[in-house]
This record gives sequence, C-alpha cells and structure tokens, in this order.
Amino acid sequence: MDRRSFLAAATAGLLPGTGPLTSAGASAGMSRALKGDPFTLGVASGDPSADGFVLWTRLALDPLGGDGRGGMPSRDVEVDWQVATDERFSSIVRSGTVTARAGAAHSVHVELDGLRPGTPYHYRFRAQGRVSPAGRTTTTPEGERPLAFAVAACAHYEHGFYTAYRRLAEEEPDLVVFLGDYLYEYGPSGYTALAGRVRSHTPGKCATLADYRLRHAQYKSDPDLQRAHATAPWLVAFDDHEVENNWAGPVSSTAAPAFDRRRADAFRAYYENMPLRRASLRGTALQVNRRVSWGTLARFHLLDTRQFRDDQACLDGVRAGCDERLDEGRTLLGAGQWRWLEDGLRGSAARWNLLGQQIMVAHRDYKAGPGREVNLDSWDGYAPERARLLGTLAASSNPVVLTGDAHMHHLADLKADTDDPDSPVVARELVASSIASDGDGYRDRTWIAESMAENPHISYIDQRRGYIMARLTRDDLSVAYRTLDYISRRGAPARTAHRVTIPSAEQSRA
Ligand SMILES: [Fe+2]
Repeated sequence: MDRRSFLAAATAGLLPGTGPLTSAGASAGMSRALKGDPFTLGVASGDPSADGFVLWTRLALDPLGGDGRGGMPSRDVEVDWQVATDERFSSIVRSGTVTARAGAAHSVHVELDGLRPGTPYHYRFRAQGRVSPAGRTTTTPEGERPLAFAVAACAHYEHGFYTAYRRLAEEEPDLVVFLGDYLYEYGPSGYTALAGRVRSHTPGKCATLADYRLRHAQYKSDPDLQRAHATAPWLVAFDDHEVENNWAGPVSSTAAPAFDRRRADAFRAYYENMPLRRASLRGTALQVNRRVSWGTLARFHLLDTRQFRDDQACLDGVRAGCDERLDEGRTLLGAGQWRWLEDGLRGSAARWNLLGQQIMVAHRDYKAGPGREVNLDSWDGYAPERARLLGTLAASSNPVVLTGDAHMHHLADLKADTDDPDSPVVARELVASSIASDGDGYRDRTWIAESMAENPHISYIDQRRGYIMARLTRDDLSVAYRTLDYISRRGAPARTAHRVTIPSAEQSRA
C-alpha cells in the first residue's frame, strides 16, 4: 500500500491497529468505555525542530455536540500515542500516554525531542481501544537539504469545499505554512460569497469559549482539512477572523462587549485546536511569533500582525487621504516583536529568510487613475514601520515575504522606497489566495490589468481559490501559484496558473 492509500484507509478506519497500541489494553483511566469514535477531528503535527515536533489531537465523539464539548463526558481521558519510522508502525521509536483534559476540550499536545534530524515519522493515537488515523510528520534536517512547502490562508467553511486542502495534501509538501483566517467567527451567512454557500456555520457569531470550540470542531471535522494536517507538519499563525474581523490589539472593530475576555477565549480555543507548542501559551495571551529553521537553508520568521498593533488609522477601511497612517509613532508589530524580528533577521545564519505574516506588505493602490486609496488594515496603514521593515529586509540574507488575507494570489516586488518606482527591489512578496474564502473564483481581466497598471510593482493577480507550492534550494526559490476553477462542487483539479523562480542573491551574482 502506498502512503496515500494507507492514509485513506486509516482515515476511513479500515486498518486494523497493529503493534503495541492495540495490544497494550486499556489503562486505568480508560476503564469506562466511550461509545463511538473519539477521533472525529483528525490528527496534526507542527513546529518541527531538528529533533522533534508537536503532535496534536482532540477527542470528540460528536463534533457538533452541545457547549463545544464535542459530545465528550466531563471527565479526563487517557490517550496513548506512538511515533514510528514506518507507516505500518512496525518500528516504533517512541510511545507514551497523555491525559486529554476536559478543561482543555479533550485536546492533547505531545512535544517530542531526541529524535533524528531530517527524518520522516509516522504517528497515531489511541483512546478507548480506538485508533486514530495516522499522520506523517518530519524533523528538520541539518545543512542545506531542499525544502518543499505550501503556503495557504483563509478557509471560510460556508464558501466552498476544501478541495484546495486536499490538492495541497496530495502534493506531499515537507511543511505547510498557514497564515491566518483558519476559521471565521461569523454566524450562518454572516459573510456571504458571490456564489452563495455550500454549507452552514454553527449557529451564532462566535462570542464565548464554547462557540469558538464548537466552530473549531466543525472546521476540523472536514476530511480534506484532516488530510492536509495528516500529511505534513504545519506552521500556523492567526490573523483576525480566528477572533473577530479586523480586531487590533485590545480593540474590537465591532464594539463587541468584554473584548478582552472574548479574545482570551478565542486564543484558548485556537491553542486547543492547533499543533502549537506549550510555549505559545502566555496566560490569556498567545505567542505565535516564533522561528522555525530548516537546517541552514531557511529560517521562517512567523509574525503576529494583530495582537500588538495600534488601532487602524482613520477608522479602518480602504480610503484616500488618511495622514494618520503616516504617523511615525504607530506600530503594527509592537516594540517587543519588532526587536525580536530585527534581532532574528540580523542574527540569522540561514541562507534564506522567509517571513510568514498575514497582511500585504506591498503598497497597493485601489483607486484607478490619479490619487490613491489604500487598505488601512494592511501595512499601508502603518507606513513608517513598513519602511523600517524594508530597511531591515534589505540588510538580511535572501528575504522573501509570505502573506495571506487578500483572497487573491499576488506576486509583488518590495521596493526599498514604496513611493519611488525606481528604487531597488529588496524582496519579493508571495501572497497566497484563499483555500475557500469568497467561494468560486474568477478572473476579471479588466480589473486585474487596471490594478497592475496602478501598481507596477505587482506582476500577477489572480482571483481564483488556491495555494502556493514552493521548492527551495540553496540557489533558488521556485514558486507555483496553484488555482482551482471551482469549489462549489467537489473534485476540481489544481492547476499551476503562474510560476516564478527567485534566484538567491549569490546565484544572481554568479
Ligand atoms: Fe480571510
């Protein structure tokens, strides 16, 4: 059986459990049987290092069960886990038992260390004699071994099927970088796509811990999303919709009551449902700005462009004539994260430095003809800090910016001076379109031509759904913008709509 059919069989529950995971018998904490399959939300892994990674699952007998508890009893449940070097689990290298606490919505996070670098591993869980689907993950290599990674964002559940997640999984990347809007907080039809909806959110706009837990469970019950998680470790960072549309630091954009509490609950549910390391938990805050290295080839610097920002200038929106966006004192990253980023870029020994972040760095003028209108929620709304960012990128080794949020593919040159088209390019920005948000895509060629004429540093825009597949070597980053023609029905193939190869500075000089 090849890996794909093995995973499919495991997902469908067709594989008999093998190895000690099924023969060990129930431990003391598992004596009262759960009725049904507790692994309805799949498995995931994330944040690999040279000697480990984090493994995740969350037990739910009934994903949409009341109060966000997934149909689980109010007691804790013991979960066994195994890590093997082969997909049949005949060579188990690590195993253990962890408690899925009712207070953590029966989620578990297992952090491994002491494993071999650059090695693929297989993992699975067991609870109550039921074996989870198996997942594949990897430790990071030493040296400059090439890396294949996918970049994805924005997966509104109502707007379409998750075929893009499935296609992404089929490409078997080493890593998946997910840049925000993993879920949306709106109630049913709270935000509609042109083509309508193919399925419905759980009732109500997310406001409580139970609401967010339930919404995460709904999303995680999708088999295409489960497949994408099971195929590779993810690096996840949230944007706005994991909490609320366009929130900024302590400020709700909708004047939601007790926003500090709501944000803390949204963060808590996010952690419970993501393969994040425990170090991400900071009381009621969540730290997702972090670094992950792929040997000496690449260093990912993941940013949080929500939690530490000043409120959007000029009441947010896409506007002309906002001088507040030019205020020197305003911040997007916050002072602490800014220092951390600057130190990390300056001190990086990696050949490539990949910034994983949420909103467009490139200047983007939305107004055709004279004058300009900019999106005040993006880096355009924080122009002086962007200028400092571009200066820091210019001084770092082979910087590339990876971005979500826009629901359209973009390829942009980041110029040292965004107001001077003749200034040098300091980095390229790759903006991944959405997995599902905004539904079936389209190509409005007139609008695209107009936008590119207005923004000559942008060389590609695509309004179809999709993701980015990138292959990185010492010498270049080769990028395929993948698109799907529809998501309102299942089964669309993914095609490459655009390609670009970015040579390293060393290679372009050679
Ligand atoms: Fe989005």
